[in-house]
Amino acid sequence: MKTNINRESIQAMSLSYKGTIRQAMQAIDQGSLGTALLVEPDTQVFVGLVTDGDIRRAILKGYGLESPISDVPRPNSKTARLGMSSEEVASLFSDPVRVIPLLDEHHRVADLAIFDNRMRLPVAEPSLGEKELSYVTECVLTGWVSSAGKFVTRFEEMMADFCGTRYAIATSSGTTALHLALLSLGIGCGDEVIVPSLTFIATANAVSYTGARPVFVDSETETWNLDPDLIEQSITPQTKAIIPVHLYGHPCNLDPILEIANRYNLSVIEDAAEAQGALYKGKIVGGIGDLGTFSFYGNKIITTGEGGIVVTNRSDLAEKVRILRDHGMSSQKRYWHPVLGYNYRMTNIQAALGVAQMERVDGIIAAKKRIAQAYTTGLQNVAGIQLPPEADWANSVFWLYSILIDDQAFEMDRDRLMEVLKSKNIETRPLFPPLHLQPIYNQGEVLPIAEKLSKQGLSLPSAISMSNSDIQRTIEAIIGK
Ligand SMILES: Cc1ncc(COP(=O)(O)O)c(C=O)c1O
Repeated sequence: MKTNINRESIQAMSLSYKGTIRQAMQAIDQGSLGTALLVEPDTQVFVGLVTDGDIRRAILKGYGLESPISDVPRPNSKTARLGMSSEEVASLFSDPVRVIPLLDEHHRVADLAIFDNRMRLPVAEPSLGEKELSYVTECVLTGWVSSAGKFVTRFEEMMADFCGTRYAIATSSGTTALHLALLSLGIGCGDEVIVPSLTFIATANAVSYTGARPVFVDSETETWNLDPDLIEQSITPQTKAIIPVHLYGHPCNLDPILEIANRYNLSVIEDAAEAQGALYKGKIVGGIGDLGTFSFYGNKIITTGEGGIVVTNRSDLAEKVRILRDHGMSSQKRYWHPVLGYNYRMTNIQAALGVAQMERVDGIIAAKKRIAQAYTTGLQNVAGIQLPPEADWANSVFWLYSILIDDQAFEMDRDRLMEVLKSKNIETRPLFPPLHLQPIYNQGEVLPIAEKLSKQGLSLPSAISMSNSDIQRTIEAIIGK
């Protein structure tokens, strides 16, 4: 919601309620809000609000430009008193009410509250600009809309460069990237793959698609990620790989995981869907294991709408992923299919978005960190709130700034806090329900840390469009609950 419209603008948008449709259209033209304010000419007392839609409908019914504006049918105007809290004013907005006059004690318009999409603070939203529009437009104008085209190659090069890997193969989603990464390692029926229980379900589903079984391991309290100390006890002769997930933007403690993998001859696929740009001991995540995967869904660090990528330094795996992505077609012979493959390609339009996003990925990551810093400053001393982790060796990108609520100390539980924030138009998300409790995977296991984190955790609005005052609004809403 914006207020503080200056007096001249209010004057320019105002006209006597005895005026004509033409004068109202002139006033609307002055204000750029699609609205004119009707006032008592002598006292300037507010009489009502007329919109360009009201006038359009009147003209279609046969009213002329010189018809009295007072004859134009219009709904009752909503108004607020100057000094009302922003929450109270915000509650008056409803579709199509987008402008609310704030009246002084004489009933004159002193300010306007204008509906602003950001009144609803989303947990995440894509940030798309001129570049994205121009590159996508280029695809449309040149006809390169399918999976062939320069943007796919360019995007793959940019991601390989970003992750410091030799190869990057763009896919249709983060899930298909994981599926292909697993297939490239030859994982299938009878195999087991170790995954954290606390992750988005796609991590485990990709394992299941291959016919292998996901084996769930609990999280560690320090990072909320796969606990390296619990991995070994879950390894069996069937175990083929480990998928550490860099959850909510925080890297996993990879060294002990790589050491175990090395000792047991297991492959490591980093699921970096939520952590593009995060650093583990100074190294960028995704490029550290045998393979890394990313998601470019609309809420991720960068987006291609839907999309994903596999990165790796191994030419054999890269080649397999490339073939499997494209119907299993031989790279030597067209329409020749030595293996069962998939159509998991990324389109040039998606990649065009991706290239534009990659051109400003550093700024996006910096914005995520700015948001995290502001939340940390505002929430660090609040009893009952535990801030998101950032281990000494880690550089988190704080994909979604997520906190834990201790209901005793905070005197309110996580679910109730989410409801309170929702009533204030502040969107939140619970932490993922652990996978070992999901209907498709539940076998009665108990993984206490994942369960506790999931019960206590929520993600706060973390869209990079958030202003400092949006963050303050969220902090105040949490503290004031
Ligand atoms: C950790 C994790 N892995 C995998 C995925 C799957 O990515 P996508 O939605 O692009 O298929 C997601 C997110 O959506 C995710 O958060």
